[in-house]
Amino acid sequence: MKFTADFIDRVREATNIVPLISQYVQLRRSGGNFQGICPFHHEKTPSFSVSEEKQVYFCFGCKASGNVFNFVQQNQGLTFREAVEYLATRASIAIPANEGNETSGNQNRTLLKVNGLAAQFFHQELKKLPPTHEVQQYLGQRGLTAELVDTYKLGYDSSAHALTRFFEAKRVPTVAAEQVGLIKRNRDGGDGHYDLFRQRLIFPIFSPTGQCLGFGGRVMNKDQQPKYLNSPDAPVFHKGKVFYGLNHSAKFIRSADEVIVVEGYMDWLALAKVSISNVVATLGTALTADHAHLIKRYTNKVLLLFDGDEAGKSAARRSLPILLSAGLYARGLFLPDKLDPDDFLKERGEPGLRQLIQSAPDLFELVTTEQWLQAKGSPTGKIQLLDEFAPHLVKVPDLRLRRLYSENFANMIGVDIKLVEQSIARAGAHSPHAGSAIRPEASTQTSEMPQEAVLFDLTKAPRAEVELLNVILMQEVYLKEALEADILQQFSHLGCKAVFTRISEVYGQMPNKFDTLSALLANHVRPVENITRHLAEPFTQLSTDGAKKLLQDCIKRVKTNYLKSKSKELVSGLRGANSANSSEQLEQIMNIHKNRRSLNRGS
Ligand code: UTP
Ligand code: MN
Repeated sequence: MKFTADFIDRVREATNIVPLISQYVQLRRSGGNFQGICPFHHEKTPSFSVSEEKQVYFCFGCKASGNVFNFVQQNQGLTFREAVEYLATRASIAIPANEGNETSGNQNRTLLKVNGLAAQFFHQELKKLPPTHEVQQYLGQRGLTAELVDTYKLGYDSSAHALTRFFEAKRVPTVAAEQVGLIKRNRDGGDGHYDLFRQRLIFPIFSPTGQCLGFGGRVMNKDQQPKYLNSPDAPVFHKGKVFYGLNHSAKFIRSADEVIVVEGYMDWLALAKVSISNVVATLGTALTADHAHLIKRYTNKVLLLFDGDEAGKSAARRSLPILLSAGLYARGLFLPDKLDPDDFLKERGEPGLRQLIQSAPDLFELVTTEQWLQAKGSPTGKIQLLDEFAPHLVKVPDLRLRRLYSENFANMIGVDIKLVEQSIARAGAHSPHAGSAIRPEASTQTSEMPQEAVLFDLTKAPRAEVELLNVILMQEVYLKEALEADILQQFSHLGCKAVFTRISEVYGQMPNKFDTLSALLANHVRPVENITRHLAEPFTQLSTDGAKKLLQDCIKRVKTNYLKSKSKELVSGLRGANSANSSEQLEQIMNIHKNRRSLNRGS
């Protein structure tokens, strides 16, 4: 149903553009108009102007312009209809019932209202609790301040009947409360109900227009199951269609022109805490085509920031074809093993995360590289990869991008581009909806590939070797220097040797990708994690000189250790005495000593 022109006019007249925009932009009076920093592009000096008289805005920088509806549409990424609804609600104007579809429109409004009431109730309940209460303690542990609780309207439900009773008092229709899953009928078949989110920390999920669509709830106690509970699907709530946090992040996504997608509520809040604001969270699911289309309202760039565990990686792999076919530009980043964004921020800090975010590689390249590093470079291994990724490439609507991906992919696995094109053609023939269809199962075959990286235990590795591995991941020049020093064979620790080999292999395959080397390695060689973990102090603060010296020192120590152990070996061999070529061995030992002396003199 369309809104009548009359209705639209009423909403327009009830809305003053200056206070509306002031919700999002700091406006200053300037002559007859107001001025501020434009919310639609990056700028330092204000070129965004609002006319109260004409009820319009205009940006001299990016030329964005329009009336109240356009502003809300642009700022919150709404359709025109949603913008009208939003402003009507904001001005307390009743939205006319949908004629053809009257019941479902009204019904949805009731459900949203019920959710809204519950969100307020949960929030007030939480704020009433004393600091000694288990949930307040928990908030403290997770670094969730009272301010964050307020801003994000976190809540709590103290008992199995607190909400049920509140609803009774407010005469909320039981059917509606049941339908959004907030209360459930007692299992004994009686008339009673109990609260679904009892004794959980509650995260309300809002639409970009601020309507409460559903909830997530986390247990306080590790032993309780499940850890998180989400609202069940309802007419106003579909897990695969909503994002947590979008109501806050929409305008930041637009101004950053990229959205960071994380896996859960806590990840979202952790990033919000450090003012990484262009973020949404899925409710622990892989991305769906609906998600992709929702994203496209705000930006065409996506960065998946998923946990480095198998679940996170598999979610990223499954998301790849969906993002590609939606024509989104996707980058990806797996945090080092076992860390999610929240843990990472705690352990490594914000600059480290920003750095990783900035240098995150293209998602297609990330996923293909990872699979390539796992695969054997045999002809059949390559065919497997072609079969796995050609169906993804078919879906890339921009043929230039498809071509570039194909070229890189062909280069990486060392086959002629024609072979990739041939595979794409085959995949196209097999997929009736090439270019648009989404087959989330398409990538399940990847689970047959070996996923787990080899785990090397570096706890007992010599310090010099562990340090060396750290230094060469810092800067390309150090890696080159270490490669030139040709010390691989002198590594004593098998794990370190294997990691070093992997680093030089990956670097050899993609010499222009040094920046993403540790990210790529971390994705599949757990030791990279181990490497850093086994250092007393991280090297990130080292000066260039310091790092250079450390590198040379490490190389020297690795060589010395090697020579020492070699000479020990030979000496114990000599003790056998009757060896025929003992004089030769003696000479070797003397040579080793000579080498060690020259090393110590600092050559
Ligand atoms: P995680 O288990 O990765 O959550 O689930 P987390 O962010 O690390 O949470 P903390 O730090 O332990 O509190 C990510 C998302 O998956 C969904 C939730 O939406 C959660 O935010 N999930 C997880 C569930 O729906 N049920 C579960 O039992 C677990
Ligand atoms: Mn997690």
